[in-house]
Order: sequence, then C-alpha cells, then structure tokens
Amino acid sequence: MKVLSVVGARPQFVKLAPVASALERAGSEHVIVHTGQHYDAGMSDVFFRDLGIPQPDVHLAVGSGTHGRQTGAMLAAMDEVLETHRPDWVLVYGDTNSTVAGALAAVKMHIPLAHLEAGLRSFNRRMPEEHNRVLTDHAADLCLAPTDVAMRHLADEGLAARSVMVGDVMTDVLLTVRDAVADREPELPPGLDEGAPYRVATLHRAENTDDPQRLRAIVQALAGLDEPVLLLAHPRLRAKAAEMGLDLAGGALTVADPLPYPALIRAVMSSVGVVTDSGGLQKEAFLLRVPCTTIRTETEWTETVDLGWNVLVPDPSTLAVAVARPAPSPTDAAPYGTGDAADRAVAALVEAHAGRDVALA
Ligand code: UD1
Repeated sequence: MKVLSVVGARPQFVKLAPVASALERAGSEHVIVHTGQHYDAGMSDVFFRDLGIPQPDVHLAVGSGTHGRQTGAMLAAMDEVLETHRPDWVLVYGDTNSTVAGALAAVKMHIPLAHLEAGLRSFNRRMPEEHNRVLTDHAADLCLAPTDVAMRHLADEGLAARSVMVGDVMTDVLLTVRDAVADREPELPPGLDEGAPYRVATLHRAENTDDPQRLRAIVQALAGLDEPVLLLAHPRLRAKAAEMGLDLAGGALTVADPLPYPALIRAVMSSVGVVTDSGGLQKEAFLLRVPCTTIRTETEWTETVDLGWNVLVPDPSTLAVAVARPAPSPTDAAPYGTGDAADRAVAALVEAHAGRDVALA
C-alpha cells in the first residue's frame, strides 16, 4: 500500500510524526508532500527534526497569501505530484488550507482520500478551519475520527458508513514526548523560572488576531493577569500586532518565539495554566492535566470542557476571573485514546484498501 501524506502547517507535522512511524511499522510506502504553508524554520523544520519525521519527498513552497490564493496554488501544484506518485491513498490531516487543497486534488484525480482527525466541528461558519474540515470530510472516502463526539457529527451528516473511530494521534505523540522530557529543566526566558508560578499563552486564530479592537482587548487582559505569562507569539500574531502598532510585551507578558514541540510540552508541564486559542494545545493541556482557558466562543474539543479542565472565555474582560478559578477535579478519563491511534489509523487504511481490491476483482 502506498500512502501520500499532504501536510503544510505546524499542527500537521505533529500529527504526521506518529503516522509516519506507524506506516513504516506496517511496511507501507509513504510519500510526504509539504505544501510550504508554514515555511519559517521554527514553524516547520524543527518539528521534522525533533519528532524524527522523514524529510518531505516533495516541497511545494507555496508560502502565505489570501485563503483563495494559498489554497489555489497548492491545488495547482498537486496534479503533477499525484500523477508522478499515483498513491493508493491521499491522506490529509486536520483542518488547514493544506488539508482542503490536498483533498480536492485527490478527488479530482479519482484517488482515494482519507481524512485524519475527521468529524470535528465548531459549528462556527466564520472560521476558515470549519469550512476546511466540513468540505474535506464530505470529499473523503475514509473519515478517521479521533473521538466518539466526532463520530456522532459524521453520522449526523450521513457519513457513518465511511467513518472509523481510531483515537487521536496527538495523544500518541504527546505521551511519548512527555515521558522523554519529564526529567529536563524547562527552557524559560529570563524573568520566568520553574520555581515561581507562570502561565503559557498562544494566540493565532483569525477571529482573535484580525480584529484590532479584539486583539488589543485580549493582549490587555493577558498583560493584566496576576502571574507572569509566557506568550509564544505565532507569526500571524506578530504581523497583526505590528500592523496596528500594538506592543505585545508589558505587564505580565513575556513574549518569545514559538517553541519546538518538546520544549513547549516541557514548558506547559511546569506551568500553572494555559491560555490559548489553539485546538491542539487545549488537548495537550488536558492530557498533561494543566488547566486551560480558551479564548474562543466554542471548541471542537468539548470533552476538555465537560471534564472541567477547559473553560471558554469569549469575552477577554472576564479572562482574569476565569484563570483564577479553583483547580478542576482529578480525572482518569481518556476521551482522546491511549496512544495507539496512528496504528489504528493505518490498520483502517490497510483494511479499506484490501476491501477495495476485493470489490474491484
Ligand atoms: C494555520 C491554519 C490553522 C492552524 C495554524 C497552526 C489555515 C486556514 N489555518 O493558521 O488552522 O491552527 O496554521 O499554526 O490553514 N507566517 C509566517 N511564517 C510561517 C507561517 C506563517 O510568517 O512559517 C505568517 C504569514 O504572515 C501568514 C500568517 O502567518 O500570512 C498566517 O499563516 P497561515 O498559514 O495563513 O495561517 P495560520 O494563522 O498559521
């Protein structure tokens, strides 16, 4: 079986790591296509290095642009790639523009498409990620779902017959990395240290960064928190703050570049809490049992909220009260699986591929 993975943005590199290992264990051929959506070394190369991912076979070097231009450039470049490699599966990950471009390219060329992390919904049609995931699920021949909630969403949309619950591959990576870094000291910038309480914050979603008034209110709220906040600034956040002349540093805030994955996990492990709008980080905080506060009106990872480890804060003026809430009750719930999701995803690909061969014979 030959699988062609399409990745391009930071969270996809994290998901690719356990899938690449699982495909290798299964003896499958694996072609990796990097769209170039994220191109800074700190947003891309370090993930391949730290997570032991094989170098991409193809790099489309698409770079930034409006949604249409960025997605269109990837789509235009994919025909030749698929023509050359002719995989048994195109595998796309998550909800970025690279996901939907890979999906469209595959269906146009009649190549079977699988979507990893299928079935997530925010039900917020203003988010580019929501369009990307809905379109990709409906284009896919195989929807690989991370949770029971995701399976329910797929069933509600008439996609149950092509959906398989495999668990969450981000759990696979997180558990491995957590154990590998547990004995290390966290690498914290001056002014922060492991002995004194601090929070880790990230902010990059268009709905938070692209409205100057909202971005200013969020940054002010973070700066006003009682404990120091390590703000790991995504390039989008830096670009938008610079455009509006907003200084990100000040008050409780220490601003730093995004961290490599193992360093991020280590920094979160020693923190007293996370404040974020990232999807992945909400889950990582939960898996590390660090309380999370999410600056959004909704979340795809509802289990983190239902279990009391994540609180949604749509209005930044209520952030201080939310982060000061009492500690959540301990739980041993494992809604995101136990670390074998990538092997289960590959098994589902093998099985569906074998079934297809039987049907064609
Ligand atoms: C993208 C995904 C989002 C994911 C996030 C993770 C879409 C629509 N969004 O958002 O789902 O959670 O990645 O990080 O696909 N930039 C750089 N260097 C880089 C990458 C980006 O400077 O390496 C800057 C560019 O100015 C670019 C901006 O960041 O315009 C935004 O990048 P883009 O890829 O459009 O979306 P993200 O906000 O990163």
